[in-house]
Amino acid sequence: MPSNAELLAIALTVARRAGELARQRREAGVEVAASKSSLSDIVTQADRESENLIRQAIAAARPNDGFFGEESGGAEGTSGLTWVVDPIDGTVNYFYGIPSYAVSVAVVEGDPDPLTWRTLAGAVVNPANGEVYTASEGGGAHLNGRQLRVKENTELELALVGTGFGYDAAKRVRQARIVAELIGKVRDVRRIGAASLDLCNVAAGRLDAYYERGLNPWDHAAGALIAREAGATVGGLGDARENDELIVAAQPGLFTQLNPLIQAAYADWV
Ligand code: IPD
Repeated sequence: MPSNAELLAIALTVARRAGELARQRREAGVEVAASKSSLSDIVTQADRESENLIRQAIAAARPNDGFFGEESGGAEGTSGLTWVVDPIDGTVNYFYGIPSYAVSVAVVEGDPDPLTWRTLAGAVVNPANGEVYTASEGGGAHLNGRQLRVKENTELELALVGTGFGYDAAKRVRQARIVAELIGKVRDVRRIGAASLDLCNVAAGRLDAYYERGLNPWDHAAGALIAREAGATVGGLGDARENDELIVAAQPGLFTQLNPLIQAAYADWV
């Protein structure tokens, strides 16, 4: 079994290479290749190229591991490890040239299900500003090599809270109603547009908290580890771990104030 440090080195290398590819394609101009779950849920040629690069590099380095990617789906391995990959998180930002998009690469042990997996290492690379976030289980979280810690002791009314919206129009309207309830209780709300970076922003103290319903596993696999390793509490609906129903990440003191509000808001949403 490789060490977490060895796995992190692979995650970082492939995320950096894919980030550089995405940055070059962005400079050359981006076009939508296809729509997915709705017209606004787009995939670009660069998403596909980025995922191909990552998939091939991981297959070369770790041929017996599984793969679970946003664009090309999954393949089971035999080693018990699976690489969970978002080749470009924040695709709409990428399409518009907003410099908040990222390549997210994580490696997990166990079934590729966030309810039960154990995340061993992860890297989130924002090629537009050169920021590289990394974490390994028990090894702390880092931004360009500098150790990260969440901010401490923010009261709810002073909290800057990030969130996001899914691509389904009816669900977005419900999500917006919950934001409308929350915004009177906190400092302000941010919708940055890349879940992996939202979680890294919590780790770096640039957001006090982040929550979202309906994320896919590749959106949060690396970012949740980075937030946890920086000292954040991360959870899902009720007592469950984070998953596609809900993710809430915040500094521990704030989590105890914010989480009940979010749980109550989502309680009747099945
Ligand atoms: C999306 C982004 C966005 C979040 C959406 C995700 P994508 O991922 O992370 O911030 O609000 O729920 O689907 O489609 O850009 O990879």
